[in-house]
Amino acid sequence: DLSPSDIAKRATARRAADLVETGMKVGLGTGSTAAFLVSRLGERLRDEGLRFTAVPTSTRTAEQARGEGIEVVTLNEAGRLDLTIDGADEFDADLTLIKGGGGAHLQEKIVAAASDRMVVIADAGKEVATLGAFPLPVEVIPFGWRTTQALVARTLENMDVDGGETVLRMRDGAAFVTDEGNHILDLHLGRIGDARALSAALNHVPGVVENGLFIDICDSVVIGHEDGSVSLRG
Ligand code: A5P
Repeated sequence: DLSPSDIAKRATARRAADLVETGMKVGLGTGSTAAFLVSRLGERLRDEGLRFTAVPTSTRTAEQARGEGIEVVTLNEAGRLDLTIDGADEFDADLTLIKGGGGAHLQEKIVAAASDRMVVIADAGKEVATLGAFPLPVEVIPFGWRTTQALVARTLENMDVDGGETVLRMRDGAAFVTDEGNHILDLHLGRIGDARALSAALNHVPGVVENGLFIDICDSVVIGHEDGSVSLRG
């Protein structure tokens, strides 16, 4: 039996899965909502003979996609993609996103930027008037990460945000390691006043690889509701 939240996630994932057509090159996102997408695409592959090429945004998604019998290639092999479908942690009215709760936003942003179209699949609870309640993930290289953290904290002092706490993400008692071998700082900002200025300033700090703000990248959001219905933004 699915929880109400899983019913919403499955609903948005199933609707977005219908956008995939035979012959397409498709970026596959990461997270619990994207997992519903990948399993639905596997179903379409078996039931309808849907054939497409996938570029996964994490080792987790790659494993699941292969398990479903989906043809997986690297981004370098694929080049330009027709479509990327991915989850998000927050989205606002401008379709600016916070991503990286699952730690995969670096590959996710590269794959989305390589795509003609990015469609986000999210449950209704992720729609916000103002971004920032969800901690903003920032991927940093392990070398000198404490120095990078201090520079990030100083950068935040000049930004239009409410909080400034920067927390090294942990997993099983050790620093979390991304697919690219990096760490993640979670920025507890409460409110992000100017996402564009913040994103630029963070990516300017030496040691920062990429932040989780997606600006002018998402084209539409398929919103899943707990009654199993969906609505569209963008
Ligand atoms: C992964 O790095 C994230 O960007 C995910 O897309 C995000 O965390 C959404 O995950 P859920 O679908 O599990 O909420």
